Amino acid sequence: MKTLIVYATKNGGTAEIARQIGDKLEGATLHNLKDEAPNPADFDAVIIGSSIYAGKIRKEAAHFIADNLETLYTKRVGLFICGLKESQSYWQDNFPPRLLAHCKSGKFLGCYYDPKKTGFFDRFVVRAVGKIKTNYNGFDAAKAVELVEAVKNA
Ligand SMILES: Cc1cc2nc3c(=O)[nH]c(=O)nc-3n(C[C@H](O)[C@H](O)[C@H](O)COP(=O)(O)O)c2cc1C
Repeated sequence: MKTLIVYATKNGGTAEIARQIGDKLEGATLHNLKDEAPNPADFDAVIIGSSIYAGKIRKEAAHFIADNLETLYTKRVGLFICGLKESQSYWQDNFPPRLLAHCKSGKFLGCYYDPKKTGFFDRFVVRAVGKIKTNYNGFDAAKAVELVEAVKNA
């Protein structure tokens, strides 16, 4: 199975999670959406991940989805969101309903947070809202395996 994993990140945490998902899928192509994305038409499966800021996925991920929607409906699709605290609204607020119905799995995977890689404002918010001051590992590896398995066994 030819798999494309695309991700959108601001501070690098989602890149690390995407990399770990890639390690579970032999030969997968991993791509940061800050650069022009490969054509999903060339793959059997597409996994799309983004970090979430104030309830919104990153615009690169939203653009990739909007630009490739019809192609995505012909692929095995997996979705993941990285953040500190899950909310059901993240899904309906950020993804077209048909894509949510079409995808094999959509998982909120938690996040990695490293204050040293994070700018002043974001550090302030994570400290004030999340009460997190130091390195934090909230990545849910078991859910990442479920995502991979759902896409593989589709
Ligand atoms: C300004 C700001 C807003 C955030 N908003 C949310 C949010 O709405 N929901 C959430 O679960 N996490 C939120 N987070 C936490 C980030 O999603 C989390 O740190 C994420 O892993 C960052 O990923 P990245 O390093 O790939 O950019 C927020 C963090 C910051 C700094």
